[in-house]
Order: sequence, then C-alpha cells, then structure tokens
Amino acid sequence: MATATLSSTSLTYLHFNSSSFWRRRFSISCAAVLDRGIYNFAAGPATLPESVLLKAQSELYNYRGSGMSIMEISHRGKEFDAVIKKAESDLRSLLSISDDFAVLFLQGGATTQFSAVPLNLCMPEDSADYIVTGSWSVRASKEAQKFCKPNVIWSGKSEKYTRICSFDEIPQTLDAKYLHICGNETVQGVEFKDYPNPMNKSSILVADMSSNFCSKPVDISKFGVIYAGAQKNVGPSGVTIVIIRRALLGHAQPIAPVMLDYKAHADTDSLYNTPPCFTIYICSLVFEYLLHQGGLVAMEKKNEKKAGVLYDAIDASGEFYVSHVEKSVRSLMNVPFTLQRSELEKKFIEEAAKEGMVQLKGHLSVGGVRASIYNAMPLAGVEKLVAFMKDFQARHP
Ligand SMILES: Cc1ncc(COP(=O)(O)O)c(C=O)c1O
Repeated sequence: MATATLSSTSLTYLHFNSSSFWRRRFSISCAAVLDRGIYNFAAGPATLPESVLLKAQSELYNYRGSGMSIMEISHRGKEFDAVIKKAESDLRSLLSISDDFAVLFLQGGATTQFSAVPLNLCMPEDSADYIVTGSWSVRASKEAQKFCKPNVIWSGKSEKYTRICSFDEIPQTLDAKYLHICGNETVQGVEFKDYPNPMNKSSILVADMSSNFCSKPVDISKFGVIYAGAQKNVGPSGVTIVIIRRALLGHAQPIAPVMLDYKAHADTDSLYNTPPCFTIYICSLVFEYLLHQGGLVAMEKKNEKKAGVLYDAIDASGEFYVSHVEKSVRSLMNVPFTLQRSELEKKFIEEAAKEGMVQLKGHLSVGGVRASIYNAMPLAGVEKLVAFMKDFQARHP
C-alpha cells in the first residue's frame, strides 16, 4: 500500500508496493513533467522518466526499510545483490538475452570499451574492421590502433556523415577478428536500421549502442558484443552495460588491465570490484519502468511517433529548418538540424530555453541544433518543440 504526501513540486512516497506505485505514477506522470517546468533535450546525461526519479526520491533516505540509503549499503549485501540481479534479469527480459550471453555492469564509460573491445577480442597483430559513420566510430577506430590493426572499411567523412553505406559496397577483411559499428551516432544523428553480416571467420559483430540502447528491440544473437553507456536511455552516467557472447570470454591480451578483462567481470557477476551501486539501482528502476510501458516493442512505436512528428515538421518547413541526414537512416533518438539562416540559430536556442525547452544546442564539433528525444522524452515535449518551431519560423519570414 502506497502512502504519499503531496508538496507543491513533488510527491514523496514513504512506503510503496511496487505495482501500485507504478500504476499510480503513470497516472500522474504528465503533471510531474509540468511540475519541473521544462523539457530536457540533452544528448546525455539526459532526461529520465519522472516516475523513476520520484521512486528513487522516495527510497533515497531509507532504502526499503533498511535504515540506510542504497549509496550506503555494501555491494556484497543482500539488498544490493537483489538490485543488481533484478537489473540483469529485467534487462534480459527486455532484450530477450539468452544465457549464451553475459551481461556486465562496468565503469569507465563507453569510451573505455573502445579499448576493451580490441583488448578482449584481438591480439596486437590481428586486424579488425570498422565502419565509420560519425564522431563516435571515429573515436572507437582510433583507440583500437593502440591494441590491434583496425581497418576503416567505410567512412562517411567525405559526405559529412549523412548516410550509411549499403552493406554490399564494403570490402570486409576476411581475417578480421570482428566488425565494429556504432548503432546510433549521437552527434550526427545517423542510425543503423539493420545490421551488416560480418564476413570474418567467427562472424563477430560489435556495436556501440550507447545512444539507442533499449529504444527498440534488437536481435542480440546477431552480435558478439554490444556496449552502451547508460546515460542516454537507461540511467545516469557512471555505468556501461556490456552484453557479450560467453564463448568470447577468456581471450584478453596479457597486457589487458584486469578492469578491462570481460572475463574477470563475468566470473564475478560484475562484482570484481566496487560497482557504481546507485547508478545500477537507477538503471534497474528504468528497466522496470520500460517493462511496465510494454517493453521495447512499445517503446519503439512511441519513439517512431515522436521522431516522425519532429522530422515531418522539419521537412514541411520549406528548408527554414534542414535535416542533413539521408531519410532512410535518420536517428529516432538524436535529431540534429540547422536553420537555413544560421545567424538565427543562437536566438532559436535561447528563445526555446525561455519557453522551457532546454539543452537544444548541437554538439560543439558540428554546431546547429540537436533535439535528443530518448525514451523518457514524452510526445508532449516534441509537440511543444514543433509548435515553437512553427511560431519561430512565422516570426522570421
Ligand atoms: C554513441 C556514443 N558512444 C560513445 C560515447 C562515449 O561515452 P562516455 O562519455 O560514456 O565514455 C558516447 C557519448 O555520448 C556516445 O554517444
């Protein structure tokens, strides 16, 4: 039974029963968005579901009657053990991850995985293929140069990363140890809609899914490794989730630091050292929330709807707003666009912020505007942005 005290800006739950909590939160989540008064379009750390924040708030001081906060509880105690086990099992349900794969909760951000992947899958003399579709795959392929011999088999650089190659046009290296892609380029807004088949002997496809993780169903069996920083779709910064085929464990280069050896983490259920307990706890609430939303099929529908509303508005603006990405690979998560009259962009971003739509500035390296519309961005936020875009255009004929 949930009991609540209502303050002007927040609801504080003293006790709750899980399912009644979620039912109740869904019915008031719109009001809660308005309570905070803003829609946050940041690329990450990014907006989190209101219901998750309120549930975490309600449990912060005294975690489920333990007399301690989750931040004060041993990572080897029964309370945290239950949290991390539930996080893993809910994630397995969301993505239908079979037992052939280990699920790891690691630290160091997705950037650390740029080194961990080659260190675990290659020896220094081995080659690995990289498809480079934007800023993050550039970084991944450069980092790999320290640990193996990466080949950039396709790069969208000359076309300013506005498209993805057709998979037949790329010459893969037959003895490459793996093929690496970035599932969604957060800066350029380019997203893979299907995946290449690796031609390498062991058919290992590796994907950085940091910015579209859990935004749609994915056939995990096609991959050897998937990694994702949590701070876009599934939690705060501080944890990186790695899903790795168990058969690939145990082959790390001898120089690999133990913290980058997937086997060390798989053998200890992500408790080789002290994990980021609070971050994992928030991820577990997000996974629970996503399951209650109807899972990833339902999330994909919502994400398609939101992105459709925004791209339609851009396309209908008579090039006042311009999306540079080829339509077939436009990201559902990050929507970068420019104003044809670029001198208006600063004003656009400032006025939007005054109206409660914040963090719309494009990435430093490309400028322009970027609306990140991850799972937790409600349709109402996108509709408000579109109404503002139309009004802004009307005021600048
Ligand atoms: C697709 C992608 N990969 C990797 C990274 C790097 O993540 P981190 O900052 O957690 O190391 C980011 C960060 O935004 C990203 O969007």
